Amino acid sequence: MPRRGPALGELGIIRDGALLAWRDKILRVGKTPELAGEARRLKAESIDCRGHIVMPGFVDSHTHLVFSGNRVDDFERRVRGATYAEIARAGDGIARSAGLVARATEHHLLAQARRFLAEFAAHGTTTIEVKTGYGLDVANEMKILRVIQRLQRTARLELIPTLLAAHALPAKYQRRPQAYLRLVSQRLIPQVGKRRLARFIDCFCDRGAFSVEQCRQIFTAGSRYGLVPRLHAEQLAHTGACRLAVEVGAASADHLDHVNDADIRALACSDVVATLLPGANFHLGLRQYPPARPLIDAGAIVALATDFNPGTSPTLNMQFILSLACSQMRMTPAEAISAATINAAYSLHLADRLGSLEPGKQADFAVMAVEDHRELPYYFGWNHCAMTIKRGQVVCSGK
Ligand code: NIG
Ligand code: FE
Repeated sequence: MPRRGPALGELGIIRDGALLAWRDKILRVGKTPELAGEARRLKAESIDCRGHIVMPGFVDSHTHLVFSGNRVDDFERRVRGATYAEIARAGDGIARSAGLVARATEHHLLAQARRFLAEFAAHGTTTIEVKTGYGLDVANEMKILRVIQRLQRTARLELIPTLLAAHALPAKYQRRPQAYLRLVSQRLIPQVGKRRLARFIDCFCDRGAFSVEQCRQIFTAGSRYGLVPRLHAEQLAHTGACRLAVEVGAASADHLDHVNDADIRALACSDVVATLLPGANFHLGLRQYPPARPLIDAGAIVALATDFNPGTSPTLNMQFILSLACSQMRMTPAEAISAATINAAYSLHLADRLGSLEPGKQADFAVMAVEDHRELPYYFGWNHCAMTIKRGQVVCSGK
């Protein structure tokens, strides 16, 4: 069950707690003395976590993991005063990343993504949603999907693929967007759908990107193959994207910087997860952050994610996202942790298996070198993660 309203801040902390795992599953959680006998009977290997907290591994429900190189040039131009939209209009931004992906080999994309995955694990993340979107044509989107598939087979973290079918209009389609949408709907989506290469379908619905009507078209094409919508919504301007997300029963509406009161009410009455991505606001140097408090207080399901991508949010550290959620959006540390675990898992339709430490769930957890969960966002910019466990296996052991 996702957590809404006051329940978002209830972590169910067990002091002097222990967790007993068998193979890839959590068997029991409770006080250490209560579990000691059973652990001895099972001859369980024990990990001493005194002075630490043990929490569910972060579920990063919005990333653009597969790209080539970076966008430090865009970054410096923005520092010098250009805006994100101006850079995009000048043919850089997403189009620059698409050019780099088109020139990159699969091997290069794979190697770069693997380096990032090791960092995700080192920061306590155990599950990652991965969007395509830097292909901008059928061949390159398929190349990204093959990379994701190879990562799924070899990486120790879990990857959930999303086809970001409409991210930016390629230059050669500038005057005929419908032709591009036809290409996506009639060629790309069927290939991906038939081979089940993605579970979700996403669009960038915003000023300077795709309209509500265009995104609705893409979702209709995706629904023929069971692809579940999620949506980049109301990031740069208010366009009605949030209402579209509610209308189509999207798994998630992401960013939401420009939602109005009616949108907040609509989200609160729905099961669409409001995924907030404050890393993008931070990196773009914005003063305004998404309205977390009104969303939580209205009863919406709020999640947090990194939006890891080269253009607007080059961080993969969920601990830093917690810090931003607290200091910039006034979420409490407990609310931020639930948003980054159980609610994020819910947005990926995985909350029955991931996102909390409960018997029967997958043994995915992070051991953090702090004594109080509030220290996680408080000591900002650090990496507190001492150990990351995925499916009962240690995937990273730092300090
Ligand atoms: O989530 N908004 C669209 N997509 C990304 C940015 C992509 C890019 O600039 O490369 C985002 O912010
Ligand atoms: Fe994004």
